[in-house]
Amino acid sequence: MSGKTGAGPVSLSYLDTLEREALAALKAVADDASAEAYRIKYLGKKGAVKSALKGLGSLPVEERKAVGARANAINAGLEEEFGKKHWKKAAAGKRSGQFDPTLPGFPFPRGSLHPLQKVRTEICSILMDMGFDIAYGPEVETDYYNFEALNHPPHHPARDMQDTFYISDTVLLRTHTSPVQMHVMETQKPPIRSIMPGRVYRNEEISARSYCMFHQIEGLYIDENVGFADLKGTLLAFCRRLFGEDANIKIRPSFFPFTEPSIEVDVSCFLCKGSGCSVCKKTGWLEILGAGMVHPNVLAAGGIDNEKYTGFAFGMGIDRIALLKYDINDIRLFFENDVRFLRQF
Ligand code: PHE
Repeated sequence: MSGKTGAGPVSLSYLDTLEREALAALKAVADDASAEAYRIKYLGKKGAVKSALKGLGSLPVEERKAVGARANAINAGLEEEFGKKHWKKAAAGKRSGQFDPTLPGFPFPRGSLHPLQKVRTEICSILMDMGFDIAYGPEVETDYYNFEALNHPPHHPARDMQDTFYISDTVLLRTHTSPVQMHVMETQKPPIRSIMPGRVYRNEEISARSYCMFHQIEGLYIDENVGFADLKGTLLAFCRRLFGEDANIKIRPSFFPFTEPSIEVDVSCFLCKGSGCSVCKKTGWLEILGAGMVHPNVLAAGGIDNEKYTGFAFGMGIDRIALLKYDINDIRLFFENDVRFLRQF
C-alpha cells in the first residue's frame, strides 16, 4: 500500500490506510538505521505521503481540496511523531553520556620502556654528565669504516674475530660501533668527547647467550695529553655510577687492532659484591667492556695529528649489561616483544 506511487488514484480511504500503516511502522523504529529507512519510506521526497500528494492531479477538482488537506495533515502529523521519537532518543543518548565528575577515573593502560632502552638511557646519561656528547653512525657500513680505517689491513686475522654479514664485497652490516669513531674524527676537531650508541650485527649462532643483532655504546676521547690514567679514571667513575659506589674494576691486557695498548675491563659483581655467585660464575667479576688508547694509525686515518693528540676509546655491550642487571637468562627475550616479558620493566 505504501509502495503506491503518485500515478494511481488517491482517495481519502487510501490516505486513512496509509496513516495507520505509517503510525504502526513508527513504533518499530528503534535505532538510527531504522529511523532513516522510515524517513525515506514515508517522509522523504519520494516517500509514500509526497507520492500521494502528487496523485492529486488526477482527481476531480471537487475532491482535490479535501484529499490534499488530509494528505498534508497526515504528513504534518507523521513528521511530528517522528520528530518526537527522535528527540526522545537523542535525549536518552545525552543522558547516558553525561559527565559525572564524582566517578573514579578510568586507569589508562601505560606502556613501559624496553629494558634495553632503559639501560641505554642510563648509560648515556651517566656519560653525558661526565661531558660526552652523543653521535650516531650508519648500521650499513663499508669495509673501510668497519675494518680498514680501524687498522685492520686486508686479510688481517682480526677480521675473523667478528663474523660479519656482508652485503657485497665492500658493504656490510657493522659488527661494532667503532666505525662511528671514524665518522666523528672526520667531522670534528679535538677536543672530542663522544659516545656512540647503536645496533650492531654479527653472524653468530643464535642462542640464549648470543644473538645476530645486539647493541653497543662506544666512547671516544681525544685531546692533548690524554693518557691511560684518564681512561682508567673515567671507567672507574662510570662503573661506580652504573653499578654502585662500592664497585671496583679489574683491568686485563687484551688486543684490538684499533687500540694500543688494549684492555678488557671487569667490574666487581654487583649482585654478590665480589664474593662469587651464579651470575659471575663464582669469580666475583663480570666482563663488561673493551677499551684502549686509540692507535696512532687510527688517528691518522681520521685526519687527526697523532703527534699532537692522543685519545682513548671504549666499547660495551648494552644487552649483556641489561641481562646482568635484570637477571635475565636468555638474550632472545629482548627481541621477541612478548608483552608478558616487557610488562615486568
Ligand atoms: N669494538 C670492540 C668490540 O666490539 C670494543 C672496543 C671499542 C674495544 C673501543 C676497544 C675500543 O668488541
